[in-house]
Amino acid sequence: MHRVVTIDGPAGAGKSTVARLLAGRLGWRFLDTGAMYRVVTLAALRGGVDLEDAGALDRLAGGLDASFPPGLAVLNGEDVSAAIRDVAVTRASRFIADCAAVRDRLVAWQRAFAESDDVVTEGRDQGTIVFPDAFRKFFVTASEVERARRRHRELVAKGQDVTLDAVLDDQRARDARDASRAIAPMRAADDAETVDTTGLSIDDVVDLLIRKVLSAP
Ligand code: C5P
Repeated sequence: MHRVVTIDGPAGAGKSTVARLLAGRLGWRFLDTGAMYRVVTLAALRGGVDLEDAGALDRLAGGLDASFPPGLAVLNGEDVSAAIRDVAVTRASRFIADCAAVRDRLVAWQRAFAESDDVVTEGRDQGTIVFPDAFRKFFVTASEVERARRRHRELVAKGQDVTLDAVLDDQRARDARDASRAIAPMRAADDAETVDTTGLSIDDVVDLLIRKVLSAP
């Protein structure tokens, strides 16, 4: 297996941006595992699949034609990078995240990436379940309000009509579910370093992490 840096943490902590930039600086591959859960969610919503039918979700995930070129998500040849960030997809993603069979498929997929490349990967379970032997593990977080503000700004910039309160409510519900789910709950691995990014710019966070990665034994 190649070297793996894991970045886990709650919704809106800026994990994707930080992980993508860190991967770029290191010359490693970036793995956005949230995008994988989101692509399965989008496919299920579009295909009218019953989100509570684990067997149907498993079949859907097994036959999925999806790929993740750097910074993109492609489903059946269509660039769905924007569509998977839609509020409806975000809300429905919990059904996919709770489905053990789908998780198994996505975990196998994630590990396969690290067979061929050094990776910076981000998600909820990367340091705990998927890559327990990772080279370096981080749990990136920020205050609840700052995370909600960041996500709200992003959504408004993309033209979505959503209030800060709605983003905060959705974020609380999602974090609570992610942290309490029976399989692969979101938590910091025992050997992960927690990084609180409240008040820090993206560049500050990337600089901090790169120093830590490069100084790792
Ligand atoms: O990180 P992002 O907001 O894109 O993730 C969407 C959802 O996918 C999360 O709320 C979580 O339920 C699920 N997820 C997960 N495990 C991961 C990454 C994401 O369960 N490794």
